[in-house]
Amino acid sequence: MGAQEPVVVHKGLENVYVCESNICFIDGENSRLLYRGYSVEDLVENSFYEEVAYLLLYGRLPKREELSSFVESLRQSYELPKVMLDLLKQFPKNAHPMDVLRTGVSMLSFFDNSSDDYSRALRIIGAMPTIVASFARARKGLELVAPKKELSIATNFLYMLNGNEPDEEDARAMDIAYIVHAEHEMNASTFSCIVTASTLSDLYSVVTSGIATLKGPLHGGANERALEYFLSVGSPEKAEEAVEHTLNAKQRLMGFGHRVYKNYDPRYKILKPLAKALSEKKGKAWVYKTAEAVEQAALKRLSEHKIFPNVDFYSGILFHALGIETDLFTPIFAMSRSVGWIAHALEYVQNNRLIRPKAYYTGELNKKYTPIDQR
Ligand code: ACO
Repeated sequence: MGAQEPVVVHKGLENVYVCESNICFIDGENSRLLYRGYSVEDLVENSFYEEVAYLLLYGRLPKREELSSFVESLRQSYELPKVMLDLLKQFPKNAHPMDVLRTGVSMLSFFDNSSDDYSRALRIIGAMPTIVASFARARKGLELVAPKKELSIATNFLYMLNGNEPDEEDARAMDIAYIVHAEHEMNASTFSCIVTASTLSDLYSVVTSGIATLKGPLHGGANERALEYFLSVGSPEKAEEAVEHTLNAKQRLMGFGHRVYKNYDPRYKILKPLAKALSEKKGKAWVYKTAEAVEQAALKRLSEHKIFPNVDFYSGILFHALGIETDLFTPIFAMSRSVGWIAHALEYVQNNRLIRPKAYYTGELNKKYTPIDQR
């Protein structure tokens, strides 16, 4: 017997609005995604990550001088304190890079004496790629590559990872991946961030919460699982049988389905042609073709239920084509999303109210304590 009058329980908080926001608009029925009013397609076509980051944080596109000083400050944040670099080399080689990133961002807070949220924001966004790339090399026993301040965030990440600068096409693909992952309204990790922010905790704690929540396979972790699936299917010819087997076993196909999009995810549409071009360029066309065959087979079963591919379906193929290890996919997502998390946290606290929902109690009442030897 419940202890209270029956109430409506909003399981998964589906369709519950928790705040007002000017940051992101999603129209899930019509595949629309806007950052501060600009469509993600327009931004991908005309902008680059740093400018999009400014837009998300400050609410408008920067003037030339504003952008250059923003970029300059961001680049000053690429370097990690030496003690952190030394520690990264000592972390267990089999640690998940998301765990390393979560710990790394948390640790960064020790070295930041600033009390200004915007300079903290830049410190976090600028340093996250260095944490990921440095650990990725350290676990393989490779020399760490120091960041180059003259490079963009996306280019510098590939440079620190591989030890050489990417060509223009690879760098642009990485930058676009950064833009499409930068923000996505009140998803699970952003909600974690505003819960943390609503207690008036600090931005390092906010982003650490976001990373922890993004890690799960139902959220950011799906891109890793999707790629592993394509690799295990092995060839386009085997796709149909594999999909039938997966769906008949009532398992979820990773990279498909979305709480908000009941039509194609616009980010999927941006990433698919990029994944195709890069896979062909890098001699990995079979992985792309396998994914495409999986997509076709899955759509036959899932589209009638309004389940379509999401951003994670092709992002993994793109990262794989760039030679990036699978367990770095979700950290890359986090590196990019950090700006969306921070933008929401800063917006939320301007009109703050502690987030404290309720749980409907369904347990017993008035039980009497039993001494341990009578149980
Ligand atoms: N494969 C197979 N069936 C699916 C899938 C899928 N990927 N997604 C949803 N369904 C089915 C469910 O089995 C369920 O069927 P049922 O009603 O017969 O039980 C129905 O669709 C509704 O599923 P829910 O989980 O209730 O829907 P929800 O809105 O919570 O789903 C979610 C969203 C969690 C993303 C889901 O689609 C999923 O698990 N997808 C796979 C993981 C994934 O790709 N996550 C990345 C999302 S994008 C992002 O976070 C960046």
